[in-house]
Amino acid sequence: MRKIIFATGNEDKMKEIRMILGGDQTEICSMKEAQIALEIVEDGTTFEENARIKASAVARKAQGAVVLADDSGLEIDYLNKEPGVYSARYAGEDTPYTIKNQMLLDRLEGVPKEQRTARFVCAIAAALPDGRLLTTRGTIEGYIGDVPAGENGFGYDPIFYLWENDCSTAQLAPERKNALSHRGKALRAMKELLEEYWRDAE
Ligand code: IMP
Repeated sequence: MRKIIFATGNEDKMKEIRMILGGDQTEICSMKEAQIALEIVEDGTTFEENARIKASAVARKAQGAVVLADDSGLEIDYLNKEPGVYSARYAGEDTPYTIKNQMLLDRLEGVPKEQRTARFVCAIAAALPDGRLLTTRGTIEGYIGDVPAGENGFGYDPIFYLWENDCSTAQLAPERKNALSHRGKALRAMKELLEEYWRDAE
């Protein structure tokens, strides 16, 4: 049996990860299920660096399993790619997203649509038992709308709009968002790299 530990405490992420990476041959555990408790300081300056920091820290306690970790966020071009790696911490970790979203909308007031380009980014890192670190990245391009819209999703979804259908990612059904999302793309790319690793290792 192939074993993966995903370095997250977020159950929503675990569902998406199981859907994409799971299978008869692969057991996927959260850190909690693997009984690993760790405080990790995410002090990297890129999404990839933060994902690698988390994966490496957990790998030291993982006894031979493959460890995956992700880091994600929103980049707004007009704001020099803010909030970027600080997306979760922007305006304070505990500040509600209704307020964080309104603060970003205020900073973009009067900026025309073509200059409101933005993207969600997700980096996934894998720490392999042989000591190697692999990284993948997925993105989804869009723009920041004028008003928040939609009830689905989380975080910055209500203000992040897709060009194709002029609606926010909070207005998409969850399956539709997963099919398009930065995290889905990064996970599917990682799945291919892991298949290659396992083919050689087994
Ligand atoms: P982390 O990857 O769990 O550290 O989360 C990064 C932060 O980026 C989240 O707390 C959200 O603020 C934001 N974020 C990442 N992905 C999404 C998404 O799909 N929708 C909305 N916000 C997101």
